[in-house]
Amino acid sequence: MNILLVFCHPRNESLSGEVARAFQHGATEAGHNVEFVDLYHENFDPVLRTEDMYKDGNLSDYSQEVQSEFKRLNRNDAVVMVFPLWWWSMPAMLKGWIDRVWNYGLTHGPAKHNIKKSLIITLAAVTKSQLAKRDYSTAIQICLETGILDYNNIPDTKLVIMDDTSGGIEKCEEHISESFRMGSQF
Ligand SMILES: Cc1cc2nc3c(=O)[nH]c(=O)nc-3n(C[C@H](O)[C@H](O)[C@H](O)COP(=O)(O)O)c2cc1C
Repeated sequence: MNILLVFCHPRNESLSGEVARAFQHGATEAGHNVEFVDLYHENFDPVLRTEDMYKDGNLSDYSQEVQSEFKRLNRNDAVVMVFPLWWWSMPAMLKGWIDRVWNYGLTHGPAKHNIKKSLIITLAAVTKSQLAKRDYSTAIQICLETGILDYNNIPDTKLVIMDDTSGGIEKCEEHISESFRMGSQF
């Protein structure tokens, strides 16, 4: 498969960065073609402005940046997003990429996208039991997997929350290995 791997974290050497690269290694070893996108490094502008508000659904109506981002997304069969959980959701940078690029007539509405499979990997400081206490996992799943991936008609979707990121080296290594495994079995 051709996979667009969207990494969103200000620091490349973060645990999120390690997890993203582990997925890339696993997927590449398994024969997939991975296109790595680092939104901070590319200085993506996440602010949705008037020029990218709802159009008639034609790609050519949108800004040049949205047109080229959508073409990059759509020349792949799958999209994988790796990011830290910030306020029980995605960083504003990634949210802005979705706001602008996953636009009407591009990924939803009269859409023309080629994405068949999607995986979200988000890293949380809290433990699984802390997530369960207030049912945060369900809330995150509904907002990100149902609300974004399903809404955009991606047939095969998955969301993984990697917990307890301050839980020490063993926990971090466990997440990195798990990400490699998910890449190799994607
Ligand atoms: C702005 C901000 C908001 C955060 N919100 C949450 C949160 O809602 N839940 C949580 O478990 N951790 C939260 N965290 C902690 C991050 O998830 C944690 O730093 C990350 O999992 C560690 O991975 P990293 O080394 O790749 O940053 C937040 C951190 C920041 C900076």
